[in-house]
Amino acid sequence: MLIKRAEDLTEADVTPYDVYRERRRFMQSGLAGAAALAMPWLARANITLGKITPGPFGTDEDKTPLKDVTTYNNFYEFGTSKADPAIRSGSLVTDPWTVTVSGECDKPGSVDLHDILKAHPLQERIDRLRCVEGWSMVIPWVGFPLADFIKGFQPNANAKYVEFETLNDKAQMPGLRRRVLDWPYTEGLRMDEAMHPLALLAVGLYGEPLPIQNGAPIRLVVPWKYGFKSIKSIVKVRFRETQPISAWQKAAPSEYGFYSNVNPKVDHPRWSQRRERRIGEFAKRKTLMFNGYAEQVASLYSGMDLKKNF
Ligand code: MTE
Repeated sequence: MLIKRAEDLTEADVTPYDVYRERRRFMQSGLAGAAALAMPWLARANITLGKITPGPFGTDEDKTPLKDVTTYNNFYEFGTSKADPAIRSGSLVTDPWTVTVSGECDKPGSVDLHDILKAHPLQERIDRLRCVEGWSMVIPWVGFPLADFIKGFQPNANAKYVEFETLNDKAQMPGLRRRVLDWPYTEGLRMDEAMHPLALLAVGLYGEPLPIQNGAPIRLVVPWKYGFKSIKSIVKVRFRETQPISAWQKAAPSEYGFYSNVNPKVDHPRWSQRRERRIGEFAKRKTLMFNGYAEQVASLYSGMDLKKNF
């Protein structure tokens, strides 16, 4: 158990969560105009987040500063450098936004993001994001369990996997003009992975709507897998009987497997996965099995050879 000394306590530790958040929101609203000028990279999804309660799981490690979380991104639809998404994603229109759900389910359909938000109470969860490239961050996400979203569409007995797809619109996403990946960006999970309470659909971070570069208005967060599994700006969800092929698997099948679990014992063919650099820190840390969530998710893979199923 973590015991904090009085000098370590912050306002958030001694104030009820809702009061703290409302106070912060009020302080921020007064500064919003100035902040937009001072922080041009912070274009956020045009949605209102209601009440947010602390969610289960998560880590109490230091959070990565907002500036790093929003200026060091992978979002190839806006370019392949880490700085591109913050600079080049302002063209993405996130309202209206519709997510279309199809495939092996009894209630397929299209839902507007505002209706999704009305239907799902929001949680805050602080998670590690471990990129396959060897860096990591700690991000306070706002979202709701993917399982709750899935249940509404009543997947049938044939639904063994779920596939996700990102918007594919060259007019709004300049990076799509280069075929660095076989667009649209797609990802997939096995159904039991998708139903695990750690799998989150995120609509915000640091208590506010998602910045565009982080996957606005709605993205996946699968904290025990490498970051690339956490697909951004989702417009399609499809229940499938067969295993989907993700965009990275298609691009380099020997380097990126379907499972993509954070696993310090399985190296990427071109580099080690034993350590990672937390953004903002100098010394490298040891990478943890399943990114530190082994207790919660290891049973999903019991009996599987994780070297083969990488
Ligand atoms: N989703 C889409 N649509 N396009 C991408 O290029 N990059 C992935 C993932 N989701 C990516 C994506 C990779 S490689 C990582 S590490 C994470 O997003 C980064 O998320 P972040 O920018 O919020 O840290």
